[in-house]
Amino acid sequence: MESKQHQPQAGLSVAGLSKGYGRDAGALALDNFTLDFPAGECTVLLGPSGCGKTTVLRSIAGLVTPDAGRIAIDGDAVFDGATRTNVPPEKRRLGMVFQSYALWPHLTVAENIAYPLAASALSKAQTEAKVESMLQWVGLGGMGRRFAHELSGGQQQRVSLGRAMVGTPRAILFDEPLSNLDARLRERMRMELLALRQQAPFTSIYVTHDQLEAMTLGDRVVVMRAGRIEQTGSPEDVYKRPRTRFAADFVGIPNLLEGTVRSVEGREIVVETIVGALRTGGWRRDWTAGARCTVAVRPTLIRIERTPGAGGRPGRVIRSVFQGTSSVDLVDLDGQQIAVESFAEERHSPGTGVWVLPTPGALFALLDD
Ligand SMILES: Nc1ncnc2c1ncn2[C@@H]1O[C@H](COP(=O)(O)OP(=O)(O)OP(=O)(O)O)[C@@H](O)[C@H]1O
Ligand SMILES: [Mg+2]
Repeated sequence: MESKQHQPQAGLSVAGLSKGYGRDAGALALDNFTLDFPAGECTVLLGPSGCGKTTVLRSIAGLVTPDAGRIAIDGDAVFDGATRTNVPPEKRRLGMVFQSYALWPHLTVAENIAYPLAASALSKAQTEAKVESMLQWVGLGGMGRRFAHELSGGQQQRVSLGRAMVGTPRAILFDEPLSNLDARLRERMRMELLALRQQAPFTSIYVTHDQLEAMTLGDRVVVMRAGRIEQTGSPEDVYKRPRTRFAADFVGIPNLLEGTVRSVEGREIVVETIVGALRTGGWRRDWTAGARCTVAVRPTLIRIERTPGAGGRPGRVIRSVFQGTSSVDLVDLDGQQIAVESFAEERHSPGTGVWVLPTPGALFALLDD
């Protein structure tokens, strides 16, 4: 890989990026981080607090200087540790949207949006026209004269999106833009962002630790762990086929079951587990019958029966939690707790004897660790 010449390409490309904060930093915030961000796509960086998501964004924006590596935007190197290239942030032509809206309180909405154009050669009329089109685009037509503090959180975030976009940036970097909003507004803004991107795709990197945002907004999802990439794939790939315990846990799969490989048929591997024989999409080909392994079992892909007839494994309900659209039963199977999610109306009281079995046709994720 190292010897392969990096071809200039549209979009962003990051190679071998490392960053440690402070002289005695034990663990690196970024550890040889390498990733291409294709033009017109939204790449989501998903991962727990402290895994380096913001450091990736700030390095790309030029707000943090990496220790080593290379960053190119549309083929131009904006940072190269080897040649000491370091283009200042304002020359990188990137837009940023932060969790805190970071608007100027003493400026109107229109002035906030126009801010990045101040140093440009545009005439007043051209600037006004650009700002007006941004206001329309983010759905704030007619609100240009208000002050930022006279807007709701969601509206303020749309102003910062307009401001990030007005200078026709080469990419937009989002750092948890919705996490300060309440649940309903967050949901609406998520849909609005999706609609804006469908209208006119732009290159973006979107940082979040919310898996729902990652799944809806990402063309591609990158799961990060301690400054490195744990897994990259389509949202569906990462959701349905996490490859490691860490990724499975991060996409909300609580049941990680030990098992024994029973048979291998190409990429389909049948694994015997405590909830029965599970068909898995194995992504490694070297599994052999008898091998010990771990399967990630999403609670919606197993079910509960009240009778043994269907061939389930017997267990006892520990508790049943109502979640609105579904309920989750925590079941004790031979001393192991298994979560089962169902959309049935029926609730089970603690102590109820039940039988757990896989949903017919379900394909489970066989983990690599
Ligand atoms: N300015 C700084 N000085 C020292 N350490 C820092 C600094 N900024 C970040 N770090 C450390 O670098 C690591 C990565 O931080 P970063 O902010 O990139 O994480 P993150 O994935 O964005 O987390 P969060 O989800 O909490 O925002 C963390 O261990 C953090 O403590
Ligand atoms: Mg962060």
